Amino acid sequence: MELPMRFWPSFLVLQLVLVADKIGSIQAQGIPSLSKCGKVHLTVSSLKDSFLEMNWLMTCDSSGEAPDIIALYNQDPRSATKPLHSVNAHRYEGYFKTPIKFRFPWLPGEWDYYDNITDVIPGAHCFPYWIASVRRNRIIDLNCLKVHPTWMDDNRSILGPQRIGSIFIPGTHNSGAYGPIPGIFKKYVLNQNMDIWTQLVFGIRYFDLRIGYYQGDGFTINHDLVKIMKISKLEPHLRVIRRFLELAPKEIVILDLHRFPYPTDFQNSTHRKLIEILKRELGHFALPPSGLQVGKGPTLNEIWQHNKSLIICYGNRQMAKEYPWLWSPLQQHWGNKKYVSDLKDYLSASIENHNTMSNPLWALMAELTITPVEVIFNAGSNAKLADKVNRQLTKWFRDEWHRETNIVATDYFLGNDLINIAIEANKIR
Ligand SMILES: *[C@@H]1O[C@H](CO)[C@@H](O)[C@H](O)[C@H]1NC(C)=O
Ligand SMILES: *[C@@H]1O[C@H](CO)[C@@H](O)[C@H](O)[C@H]1NC(C)=O
Ligand SMILES: *[C@@H]1O[C@H](CO)[C@@H](O)[C@H](O)[C@H]1NC(C)=O
Ligand SMILES: *[C@@H]1O[C@H](CO)[C@@H](O)[C@H](O)[C@H]1NC(C)=O
Repeated sequence: MELPMRFWPSFLVLQLVLVADKIGSIQAQGIPSLSKCGKVHLTVSSLKDSFLEMNWLMTCDSSGEAPDIIALYNQDPRSATKPLHSVNAHRYEGYFKTPIKFRFPWLPGEWDYYDNITDVIPGAHCFPYWIASVRRNRIIDLNCLKVHPTWMDDNRSILGPQRIGSIFIPGTHNSGAYGPIPGIFKKYVLNQNMDIWTQLVFGIRYFDLRIGYYQGDGFTINHDLVKIMKISKLEPHLRVIRRFLELAPKEIVILDLHRFPYPTDFQNSTHRKLIEILKRELGHFALPPSGLQVGKGPTLNEIWQHNKSLIICYGNRQMAKEYPWLWSPLQQHWGNKKYVSDLKDYLSASIENHNTMSNPLWALMAELTITPVEVIFNAGSNAKLADKVNRQLTKWFRDEWHRETNIVATDYFLGNDLINIAIEANKIR
């Protein structure tokens, strides 16, 4: 529960505890804090409509103790008089897409980006969107849609002794291109540079980047799924990351410069030019891998002792060897699957068989792949695929795989609950 208990009327606290205790049917393998019957969370549709989605657990349906109403509010439900929208919990399968758009023009907690941003408030912060599950006028669970700009620092006593290769880290796929949340932060959409900032503030800590180099434009972040290139300049992204690292110095961020798709013969001299830029913009924060790329890697306490919070993995092995502050290429498990059930089989097998070699970090690329033809004839299908798989990802990682996972990179991450899942999963590792 995100809100300090002391703010709750005491009768309500009592009832909540009672209800939760009686009906809390914890799933065998699930995360106890997230898997109880009646638990709720909000997501944002991956589709262009950006509607708010209500999600709830009905694992106690047969016992007659399940919630009967699920409601969306624009403030804390304990002080709200009327929900924005509510549904009968039994009528839907733990999911309802509301007709309410997620429209919030700034990031809470003073985390809105501007050039000389300084006064940010650490900790989680709610958007004015709340969800509650209710049974006979009693709240079973409540939650808000929120940012987690400092979740590693907030949980430092739990995370400190854990190794970077064995904690759950939420990430994004093709992080710099195709804004992951188009249509939400309108001003951000106009400026792709803000995307990585917004992701960082929400709690994303792994970024999968494909770098291109163009005469005239210099280095860019590419989306190279197909030969339709969507590019944006690299340096502004790097500066945004630097600002974040300055403001949130205990957040450990992993930059995975995974591939260099353009030009196809990305030369050594081009790599060196790129690495110079990385050094200039972010070198000060880069944690050198020397002695740390063994086993599951360093603990977070060890990383914090170095006063460095950025791990730069470089997708070219020879180059990574040449520069003492670059980490070896990171292993990505990318299934190239078109169907949800195939993706699940693939991810499950990857979790079982993964084998870290020179870099203790490894990433599951948890997204479906579109074919080039689909990209050309249906611009929306990337989002549609994310929409198909995001709710499943929430279930798989919450109920089955939360113990074994390191990095999970997704598309349209607001459509799944992996950031909360990562925070909670790391508490019980
Ligand atoms: C931020 O910097 C700009 C110049 O770059 C300046 O005009 C503005 O007053 C500054 N804002 C704050 C809050 O310091
Ligand atoms: C862990 O971090 C989250 C997100 O910032 C925060 O809400 C929670 O209170 C933290 N947990 C602990 C035990 O500090
Ligand atoms: C890290 O920063 C702290 C506080 O700024 C300082 O006391 C410490 O000496 C630094 N450690 C290293 C290894 O630079
Ligand atoms: C590029 O640099 C690496 C590392 O120095 C070297 O092993 C490799 O032979 C070079 N490749 C070319 C084409 O020069």
